[in-house]
Amino acid sequence: MITGVLGIQKPVVLAPMGFVSGGALAAAVSRAGGLGLIGAGYGDADWIRREFQRAENERVGIGFITWSLARQPALLDLALAYKPCAVMLSFGDPRPFAEKIRRSGAKLICQVQSLAIARQALEAQPDVLVAQGTEAGGHGGERSLFALLPAVRDLAPDKPILAAGGIADRRGYEAALVLGAAGVLVGTRFSACDEALTAPRAKERIVQANGDATVRTTVFDVVRGFDGWSGITGRALRNKFTETWHGREAALRERMDAERKSYYAAAERQDFDTALIFAGEGVDLIDEILPAVEIVRRLVP
Ligand SMILES: Cc1cc2nc3c(=O)[nH]c(=O)nc-3n(C[C@H](O)[C@H](O)[C@H](O)COP(=O)(O)O)c2cc1C
Repeated sequence: MITGVLGIQKPVVLAPMGFVSGGALAAAVSRAGGLGLIGAGYGDADWIRREFQRAENERVGIGFITWSLARQPALLDLALAYKPCAVMLSFGDPRPFAEKIRRSGAKLICQVQSLAIARQALEAQPDVLVAQGTEAGGHGGERSLFALLPAVRDLAPDKPILAAGGIADRRGYEAALVLGAAGVLVGTRFSACDEALTAPRAKERIVQANGDATVRTTVFDVVRGFDGWSGITGRALRNKFTETWHGREAALRERMDAERKSYYAAAERQDFDTALIFAGEGVDLIDEILPAVEIVRRLVP
């Protein structure tokens, strides 16, 4: 049982969304009976310290982008000092970090986007795997959850598996169980909740958007200087920036100095015609901003 492995009452885990899943949101999901994961994202020591403090000793975990952690391994020691109950690793080789995480007493959760990535993750002997479908908001791969999830189940019949990607209500939860999941990892639905660090105007856009309005793209990674992750793109709401540059990444690189400056200026003034809002196809199912406890209540029995 996933609840036994993770020490929770309800089989729902908050995705560690960088800049969105702060300590208050993670604590709220844990208090509601699920497990909240703070989103360490690309890694910033002060941010990690502040968000653990905001979790106010609630039982929470943390998630890292593994490639960023490989560049700043000391961030793992910093996080482990706060005694997270779980550490989730995505995008990159988890094996170099697995032993240290296990020794700390935290459960290791590895998010995978394909069978090849799942095979590598299994070598790290995770406690839990997350099968992430391409429907997901934020970074991810090409495989759709409907086929990937049962295939990961068959590959690792003894591992508890969380389904991720496009799950935003009870129907998605129940479908995931039928396909072999033990529970769900949910991002986009929680990004539009009261406790999320998402900018208020971005939450409104998520409520108004539908899944047709999302696109998997690298343009936001290119402009922010985070690109170069082979096979990984980010699902975001379409806006003027994606209309201008998606498919024209080479031209964007040529004008990088000017474009990066104006991108960050737009992000600073929360102009989401230009700035990024990561969101998955599940935005179809989000039509109001709710407290996290209510989202958990609606998602799982
Ligand atoms: C706003 C946002 C930011 C995200 N940031 C991260 C991240 O920093 N690290 C990570 O492993 N996954 C990140 N993800 C992906 C989630 O881990 C998860 O796979 C996804 O949210 C599940 O799909 P859903 O958004 O449809 O619920 C992010 C997702 C969103 C929506």
